[in-house]
Amino acid sequence: MTATLRRAIRPLAEALISQIAAGEVVERPASVVKELLENSLDSGATQIDVKLEAGGIKRIMVADNGAGIPRDELALALARHATSKIASLEELEGVESLGFRGEALASIASVADVAITSRVAEAESAFCVRSGNPGPEPGIEPAAGSIGTRIEVADLFHKTPARRKFLRSEATELAHCLTQVERAAAAHASVAFTVTHQGRTMLALPAQTPRERALRLMPEEFAAARREVEQDAGAVRVHGWTGAPTASRARADAQYFFVNGRYVRDKVLTHAVRAAYADVLHGASQPMYCLYLTIDPKRVDVNVHPTKTEVRFRDSSSVHQFVLHAVQAALAQSVQPLHWQQPASEAAPKPGTYRLTPTHQTSFGVAQTVASYLALLAERPAPLASDANDEPADAPLGFAVAQLSGIYILAQNERGLIIVDMHAAHERIVYEKLKRQLDQRQIPQQRLLIPQVFTASAIEIATASEHGELLEQLGLDVSLASPTQVALRGVPALLSQADGAELTRDVLRDVREYGGSRVLTEHRNELLSTLACHGAVRANRRLTIDEMNALLREMEATERADQCNHGRPTWVQLAVGDLDKLFLRGR
Ligand SMILES: Nc1ncnc2c1ncn2[C@@H]1O[C@H](COP(=O)(O)OP(=O)(O)OP(=O)(O)O)[C@@H](O)[C@H]1O
Ligand SMILES: [Mg+2]
Repeated sequence: MTATLRRAIRPLAEALISQIAAGEVVERPASVVKELLENSLDSGATQIDVKLEAGGIKRIMVADNGAGIPRDELALALARHATSKIASLEELEGVESLGFRGEALASIASVADVAITSRVAEAESAFCVRSGNPGPEPGIEPAAGSIGTRIEVADLFHKTPARRKFLRSEATELAHCLTQVERAAAAHASVAFTVTHQGRTMLALPAQTPRERALRLMPEEFAAARREVEQDAGAVRVHGWTGAPTASRARADAQYFFVNGRYVRDKVLTHAVRAAYADVLHGASQPMYCLYLTIDPKRVDVNVHPTKTEVRFRDSSSVHQFVLHAVQAALAQSVQPLHWQQPASEAAPKPGTYRLTPTHQTSFGVAQTVASYLALLAERPAPLASDANDEPADAPLGFAVAQLSGIYILAQNERGLIIVDMHAAHERIVYEKLKRQLDQRQIPQQRLLIPQVFTASAIEIATASEHGELLEQLGLDVSLASPTQVALRGVPALLSQADGAELTRDVLRDVREYGGSRVLTEHRNELLSTLACHGAVRANRRLTIDEMNALLREMEATERADQCNHGRPTWVQLAVGDLDKLFLRGR
């Protein structure tokens, strides 16, 4: 900057300072809604009503039945750096309220017209303060109003037209406002909320239990596909619900994490949940979850960003591990029965109108006694395919009856018919076994009586000679037979039936694609699925009844056996009642 262009340093005007600060907090109407809701929640409200006009751009009104603001503090509520929530650094470091900066209302008032009407229990009437009033002492007038606070924000950004241009359509702004209410509501189930837009009710939530509230706000299919998460380590607790991998989505639009009652978007937490799904959900599929972390406020810093949607954990790696294990444990609750469910609205079933949903939570890890099964029934059907003496006491997947189209196993259990995708189920079993073997650093190898020699491309030859050790770790003995040929001398014992050449080619392709040295750390699961796919029984292979029953028993003993490693279900249940409905029996 040249000397002639330089201007003298001057303090900024107070109004301009506020407008600059507002830029950090107030991006759009939804930011105002968020700040007002947080104030209402901090005031101990049990009922919060939001009224919006023109997507919140024209008017936002939030009314609560909380503690209210005393008359002589009303002007301060609009002043910058004035708060009733903290008074010292020590209190900041252990802050338990949603607000603490004493800046939100001042920021909003610098870019919109604000009126606060509030009444505390001791006062005879409510009082009102308006932001526009000039002078150091804004006028405070008596007003009508019950105990609590009503804040009205009108004409957002009319003072800063440049920022107003960044707003989107009213419908988009309204959607963002609703999202903020939903997040606040999900974190505070015992508080009732209503939202109206141009007088039309958009949302009405009574006080609910946390479970009722989460199910009300999450996508409909979450209710049937959720697994309970609950892990308490004293200083930190995570609870809530996470979706079955079979109910994953294309977009990450049903992922909620709350820390001490605050919605956050935190990389550590998001990564931990994603890592818990690494084994059951591949590719771009997104899980659904609604999880609540409660932690000593001293162990988490919320003063990271003005909007407070980011947090910093004092010990982020142990929080990561804690959440990862909690979600993993929820997902490992083994087989979740799925059955065909008739939509409630249907009077009579129409073919093709049934949806797959899990019926009830059954954990095969927790041994279910014969008695509890008997309690479920009128009578226990005789097993069809197995000698009664050999029958395991606990066979939730029942006994094989037949094989269908070379793809499905049909079995009968106490509740009715079980249909198993035989390849997908077996693939999961082989995959889990390989994973255990690899974790123990030993995938047992089966030597081939006659080495299998096959022609390979230059890139396959290069990969094989470069990564011999890695292949050995995976149980594959691959060496060069000639400049254009590869010899396979040993395969993983679990994969002894596989086509060796095809298997080797696929593994070489994975190793090359994922980058040799990192493949076992970063792409272990993908690689093991390639192996497992080759080890699993192929479609059209005829299985004997005994083989089919053996597969069912292995599924029961395998963690996460109810979905293949791509997140698809491996089996479904059609209860006798469902079959009756199909045939209109008993109607
Ligand atoms: N709905 C309300 N009920 C009761 N008191 C309120 C309400 N809204 C605001 N206040 C009072 O006004 C003060 C200022 O609110 P403001 O939102 O500006 O700051 P804050 O909540 O303290 O901190 P932050 O800037 O982090 O939100 C609060 O500290 C609180 O005492
Ligand atoms: Mg606040």
